[in-house]
Amino acid sequence: MDSRVFLSLFLFLFFLLYFPNVSHSFLLRGWLADDKKTEESRLKLKSETRSSSVFDPTKVTQLSWHPRAFLFKGFLSDEECDHFITLAKDKMEKSMVADNASGKSVESEVRTSSGMFLNKQQDDIVSNVEDRLAAWTFLPIENGEAMQILHYEHGQKYEPHFDYFSDPVNQQMGGHRYATVLMYLSNVVKGGETVFPDSEAQLNQPKDDSLSDCAKEGYAVKPRKGDALLFFGLHLNTTTDPRSLHGSCPVIEGEKWSATKWIHVKDYDNPIIVSQDCIDEHVNCTHWAAKGECRNNPIYMVGSKTSKGYCRKSCAVC
Ligand SMILES: *[C@@H]1O[C@H](CO)[C@@H](O)[C@H](O)[C@H]1NC(C)=O
Ligand SMILES: *[C@@H]1O[C@H](CO)[C@@H](O)[C@H](O)[C@H]1NC(C)=O
Ligand SMILES: *[C@@H]1O[C@H](CO)[C@@H](O)[C@H](O)[C@H]1NC(C)=O
Repeated sequence: MDSRVFLSLFLFLFFLLYFPNVSHSFLLRGWLADDKKTEESRLKLKSETRSSSVFDPTKVTQLSWHPRAFLFKGFLSDEECDHFITLAKDKMEKSMVADNASGKSVESEVRTSSGMFLNKQQDDIVSNVEDRLAAWTFLPIENGEAMQILHYEHGQKYEPHFDYFSDPVNQQMGGHRYATVLMYLSNVVKGGETVFPDSEAQLNQPKDDSLSDCAKEGYAVKPRKGDALLFFGLHLNTTTDPRSLHGSCPVIEGEKWSATKWIHVKDYDNPIIVSQDCIDEHVNCTHWAAKGECRNNPIYMVGSKTSKGYCRKSCAVC
């Protein structure tokens, strides 16, 4: 076996072990479409020509496994943080929340910050950060929403909530939010911690006076300029993880700036809207069904309780 083939296989197996369900939907389709084409790794970033997009794994620590949460120290440079704040500063509006049933944006006392959305690939600095986020999370750029910049002044907060949506409207765009990366753009003198009230890790965290009272109610991450917090709202099997409940504690002294990247299960830029009719959504459904994929890869092929599969006709489930 030559070394490229070996490396491709190794990366593929590693990815499969790490994100079994995600890799099914992203990889297996392409993989099965052409059984002989094994020389090429499927892990390449689309934007490989734009930047080197490698990350140093020694800068990342696991904070908690239930929910899955990781901290990347110094993910952003000071200049990148300042740049994001400059882009956002004069465009801030009161933050909204999604209504549980309708999915519409509504004002709420639960969330008192102000915020705005950047555009994807708005400039070279934004693009470069988006590339690095994809490299770190192993999740494709097209699955991400545009970054949201948030500003919390004295007393402002976001009470514990989930990032996945309860309403069906928001889930049409790329499915559930799978992962969230919170990037801290400023230091906060006191308060403003990200808190996970149901994290298993809260029992091991010393509750010293550097934490606000709100932060002591769970596992807390202190905002530090440049650090990035990655956590997953879904389990590995893509069901929602209620332990991903998290909030932003009130700022007690100073102010807090942060940037959020939400990453979905599927393509967010060009979502496939699955129709209600009994049809196949991909030209190779018949081929895959004949190879046993309805049984081996049911979430993509047939679907689950919350989302319809892409090959329901060939799998004879409608
Ligand atoms: C369908 O499968 C064939 C061969 O198995 C492959 O060449 C083709 O690219 C696939 N089509 C799509 C749209 O993926
Ligand atoms: C929305 O749903 C969440 C979780 O199911 C619940 O905690 C919250 O109270 C609901 N909010 C409203 C306004 O109904
Ligand atoms: C998905 O995984 C979670 C966590 O491991 C587990 O509690 C849950 O029962 C699983 N659900 C299904 C449908 O497999």
